[in-house]
Amino acid sequence: MKDNMRPIGVLDSGVGGLTVVRRLQAQLPGEDILYFGDSANVPYGNRSEDEIFALTMKMIHFLAQRDVKCIAIACNTISTIVKRLRAVEPCPLLSIVEAGASYVVREKLPRVGLIATEFTVSKGAYDARIHAHAPRCEVVSKGSPSLAALIDGGCFGGAAVETEIRTQVDNILSRAPVEHLLLACTHFPIVEDSFRACYPQLKLIDPAEQQAKAVDLLLTERGWHNEQPRGTLSIYTTGDPALYADVAGRLGLAAPAVCAHEALA
Ligand code: DGL
Repeated sequence: MKDNMRPIGVLDSGVGGLTVVRRLQAQLPGEDILYFGDSANVPYGNRSEDEIFALTMKMIHFLAQRDVKCIAIACNTISTIVKRLRAVEPCPLLSIVEAGASYVVREKLPRVGLIATEFTVSKGAYDARIHAHAPRCEVVSKGSPSLAALIDGGCFGGAAVETEIRTQVDNILSRAPVEHLLLACTHFPIVEDSFRACYPQLKLIDPAEQQAKAVDLLLTERGWHNEQPRGTLSIYTTGDPALYADVAGRLGLAAPAVCAHEALA
């Protein structure tokens, strides 16, 4: 297959990466997208680095076997170990942490609140990327042990989601007067309305848009744009295909083909 006709791979521990697919379809409507979501093993954010690495390599192999031209790692938790993945995988891997951090630097934000999985926060990957270019930017982070799993279980709002959001964001606000909140887990924009209802004063940052621009730039550099008018979306999941169809509909994605895949572990 000609390089420009090959699909873009997208992976996540679950449904969260569909928020990146939404931005990719807006930015690059002609691209075919192949998505893998490992909902049988979600949340990755409560696992060890070695477990995350092993599970992610299985997703990468699945996508690489289908000849993707690059892979958008639409998961902040996995993106924190992108160096380790790049060391063994030749296919271009685009990290959403690098995309989110570059947005904060480019906008010259003096301070940013950040809500993510506990793993993402513990790795300090955002802090390191932001401080490499903006050493004075104050990054006020808090991990949630349960929000990604709640959303991946089909809870898209209501009391359980709002209580968890308030618990973690109140903690951030008690430590600094933040005006911007980075949604540093791709599941979280699915419940953006709950964030807005709880904190209408905060400006929410979804790094997915920035990641879609990074993919666009890579395709430009390599001459890999697919010029067809409209691309396809194929989703594979180790979880419930109905959940993916539901979230795809909520995010306004054009009707995808959703297939079940056997468990990875
Ligand atoms: N969407 C993933 C992220 O961005 C969720 C991680 C998890 O499974 O814990 O971090």
